[in-house]
Amino acid sequence: MATESQPSGDRTDSISQRHRETAADVIPPNLKLYIGGDWVPSSAGETFETRDPTTGETLATVQAGTREDIDRAVEAAWTAYDETWSDYSAAERQRVLEEIAARVEENREAFARLETLDNGKPISEARIDMELVADHFRYFAGATRVNGGETIPSGDGQHVQTLREPYGVVGQIIPWNFPLLMAAWKLGPALAAGNCSVLKPAEETPLTVLKLMNEIDDVLPDGVVNVVTGFGPDAGEPLAKHPDIRKIAFTGSTEVGKQVMTQAAEHVHDITLELGGKSPLIIYPDADLEKAVATTITAIFYNTGECCSAGSRLFVHSDIKDEFVEALASTAEDLTVDDPLLEETTLGPKVTEEQAERTLEYIEEARDAGADFLAGGDVPDDEALAEGSFVSPTLIDDIDHDNRAVQEEIFGPVQEVFEWTDYDAMIELANDVDYGLAAGIITNDITKAYETAKDVEAGNVWINQYNAFPAGMPFGGYKQSGIGREVGYEALAEHYTQTKTINLALE
Ligand code: NAI
Ligand code: MG
Repeated sequence: MATESQPSGDRTDSISQRHRETAADVIPPNLKLYIGGDWVPSSAGETFETRDPTTGETLATVQAGTREDIDRAVEAAWTAYDETWSDYSAAERQRVLEEIAARVEENREAFARLETLDNGKPISEARIDMELVADHFRYFAGATRVNGGETIPSGDGQHVQTLREPYGVVGQIIPWNFPLLMAAWKLGPALAAGNCSVLKPAEETPLTVLKLMNEIDDVLPDGVVNVVTGFGPDAGEPLAKHPDIRKIAFTGSTEVGKQVMTQAAEHVHDITLELGGKSPLIIYPDADLEKAVATTITAIFYNTGECCSAGSRLFVHSDIKDEFVEALASTAEDLTVDDPLLEETTLGPKVTEEQAERTLEYIEEARDAGADFLAGGDVPDDEALAEGSFVSPTLIDDIDHDNRAVQEEIFGPVQEVFEWTDYDAMIELANDVDYGLAAGIITNDITKAYETAKDVEAGNVWINQYNAFPAGMPFGGYKQSGIGREVGYEALAEHYTQTKTINLALE
């Protein structure tokens, strides 16, 4: 799998050197908490380290924010809302969002490299993240101008009209798999709607959000966006529970999502949750083999499998199964698992050692149950990658659909394969998980594709493609995959504004 011909000791050194040099270039100068437009230490004086999952080395030391910091940040956000941001017109907010998009574009390569260092994703994929970040801010820049209410026909003597007003201050908790992109998904609609934000990045990957604030400090009025780095229970929970936020948006595990929902209940905050998934990818027998294999590879191995939408359960029709899985396994084994800063790398390390271990535990569980491994099932046999949290691309066959490895989100480069013949039985199995985030269908028969799209319990269905996320596409889950939608205009209108109805007597 490793492509370089250097001895592994030399490769280890060159990976370390490449990462240290890149870190020196792209880590931003200000790494403290960003509150009210100032860089401040955490009230408790505590810090923590964020690590490079490729080398295991420390990248940077950041602040461990606590309840007091969240209090300060929420207060700064309300001050900004009351004194400046609520006076900004839609056109003015549009210009701010456009400028944010421009700053991301100007610094795209540095943002991408920093994301690769902190998260471990291949540089080619980190660049795509940054393109999407900029495009997403630009989409919401435009959306500021169409965010309006309705006039409701209401009989004689009354004029009923709705306004869509911002909440004021919202809390936003984001994960580590697409650190800057998930921040953009949340900040875009919040700011477009006229809210101020207190945002908590994931403790595993705080750096690109901090870099964003370094780059846009002069673009946003002080306090419109406040960033408090720190751990979930210390900084996330006080944010979700804070009496003065009006809405909390969370992306992460279903387990913590349930806790956040309880926390939000204390003050009846509005809530959106974007949680885990265990999404089916359904292959019909008429599929073009080569294209279907490529789509399957994207579905499960993109971002090292660390996608909430990952197509982690493959349902392939029995007519083509043998041929299909043979081609799939050989393509999976040909992926370039290496230093994610290298252009040719297609699979990087998992975000942390802990996450790699979690993935390997699921693999062990499948192995113990007697499953068959079509590919992977272990860590790469490459000394140069030994310090990184790598897991080989893994395909599992002959596994019971009730196995924990099939039912639960693994969030790593692991897919389970099922063969189907009877359509109804296949759909029943495809829907037989607690999740309902996404699904993929591969067929040239448009009628079948459409029927299947309607039959799957999923918030997002891709046909003849997978993991495509253009700006404007509402995204979110059915069942335990979440509440509400992100990305599209629906996020702004339904989830970052509240409706005020004004009923005027005409007589
Ligand atoms: P997590 O749900 O603990 O972390 C996500 C965010 O929530 C982080 O910012 C974290 O600091 C915060 N958080 C943690 N505990 C909190 C609490 N009590 N109150 C408020 N905020 C809290 O996810 P984790 O532990 O990083 O990953 C575990 C699993 O979750 C993964 O293996 C994966 O299956 C799933 N996951 C799903 C994601 C998605 O995109 N849907 C993203 C990240 C993880
Ligand atoms: Mg990290």
